[in-house]
Amino acid sequence: MAASFGFLWWQTGVIYQIYPRSFQDTNADGVGDLKGIESRLDYLASLGVDAIWISPIYPSPMADFGYDVADYCDIDARFGGLADFDSLLAQAHARGLRLLLDFVPNHTSDRHPWFVESRASRNNPKRDWYIWRDPAPDGWPPNNWISDFGGPAWEWDEATRQYYYHAFLKQQPDLNWRNPAVRAAMYDVMRFWFDRGVDGLRIDVLWHLVKAADFPDNPPNPAWQPALGDMHRVLQLHSTDQPEVHAIAADMRAIADSYGSGGRGDRVLIGEIYLPVDRLLHYYGRERAEVHLPFNFQLIDAPWQARALATLIADYEAALPPDAWPNWVLGNHDRPRVAARLGQAQAGVAAMLLLTLRGTPTLYYADELGLSDVAIPPAQVQDPRGLREPTLALGRDPVRTPMPWDGSENAGFTAARPWLPLHADWPVRNVARMAQEPHSILALYRRLLAARRAHPALAIGDFALLDAEGDILAYQRRFGAERLIVALNLGGNLQRLELPDWASDCRVLLSTLAHAALVEDRAVLLRADEGVILMANNQNSEG
Ligand code: GLC
Ligand code: CA
Repeated sequence: MAASFGFLWWQTGVIYQIYPRSFQDTNADGVGDLKGIESRLDYLASLGVDAIWISPIYPSPMADFGYDVADYCDIDARFGGLADFDSLLAQAHARGLRLLLDFVPNHTSDRHPWFVESRASRNNPKRDWYIWRDPAPDGWPPNNWISDFGGPAWEWDEATRQYYYHAFLKQQPDLNWRNPAVRAAMYDVMRFWFDRGVDGLRIDVLWHLVKAADFPDNPPNPAWQPALGDMHRVLQLHSTDQPEVHAIAADMRAIADSYGSGGRGDRVLIGEIYLPVDRLLHYYGRERAEVHLPFNFQLIDAPWQARALATLIADYEAALPPDAWPNWVLGNHDRPRVAARLGQAQAGVAAMLLLTLRGTPTLYYADELGLSDVAIPPAQVQDPRGLREPTLALGRDPVRTPMPWDGSENAGFTAARPWLPLHADWPVRNVARMAQEPHSILALYRRLLAARRAHPALAIGDFALLDAEGDILAYQRRFGAERLIVALNLGGNLQRLELPDWASDCRVLLSTLAHAALVEDRAVLLRADEGVILMANNQNSEG
């Protein structure tokens, strides 16, 4: 935004997540690449986002599509090379866009040279870089821990007659973060990318890094049902969120801060952490600062009801430690898309919510088009999670499909067969076409992003709840003399919202629908699925 009022770029800015396989292909192999992202930077700059985060682009056997890293300091040939990366970074910076990479510290690929060495023999110097355990007395795995992708989290290695631990696929052995040599090596990886100029890192499964030293069984989950998936049979009490992880997160923060001017957090760390709020917030740091933004995923699972949302927002705001900056997420490459969860009509309302709450929003690519999940025919399923638990609809392919750019073949994404099918609606739901439609959801995203830039109250103002009755959620954002009201109709019926005295004379700054909403004396009428931002006509009259 133009005026920063002492706030940092990652506080005032909006982050846009790119799943690189699906953004833009330039060499006709059906898979997106770095040159493709570079060719679309003008789109991202004109959309009005401030930073892009790219899911992993490192050399990888792609067992988990890049979250199985075989070399942390290079680029997979499918995406390009380091020269392409440097060019992308320079071109992003030239447009005022920051660039964040995905850092995957919990596990490597089983083809990473470290693991190849580690499994070579029990006395290899890298043996203790991973988590090796003897079998239980009966020959079974050392404990009952379950992989997040289903099945036992231990893999037997016949050559050295021990099990190794993998929280995800067996092709993703967990590193042993209790080993100082592992820490040093991974901290060097962070420095490698910061030295190259990246503006931040999104840290994959940060809460997984440290496991209980004595590897006790996890307790059974009394609420387990098959639909939850295999991993939820037990509670991950001992396999995740151990107290020792916080010193590691603090070390990572110190590295990031060593690049900023005067420890002001020029480089940002975002932690991927799925935990209840009280535990999540510990990752801001207590004695020492940890990540700048522990991802707040609550809107993804929240019931779409005004009362429930209001409570969730108020509780989160109230629980934030002093100086902690909030953040909000509506979707990512692991979770159902917002348009699939809420429907097209509410996708615009959700966009307004995401972009008007206090805190840094992260957008997921193509959500600005209202793209929905794509049903993948069984024979085309690619996601390892989908393949391992096919009956449970846990697969993530539906949310990772190609970006529809225009009306040309394959929506302008690729000149070949795309690695995952496009959504069937691409002839109408694509960037080129929606850019021509003044009331498309793409146009709404642009207007919302522009409004955030124009009105500091939306980006950095205080938050106060005004109303949460029935289908209406309304709140105030205030910065200095500027006060705005955001009013959202979460349902399909006309709603009337009484306005506070100070806003009795106000106008509609922005509506999610065509034609401005109806402002009456002291009230606003919200049509079905409408959200509005209101501004008092006389901003200076209030006390
Ligand atoms: C994170 C990623 C997910 C990946 C997993 C293992 O949850 O977001 O895509 O499969 O970690 O790295
Ligand atoms: Ca390609």
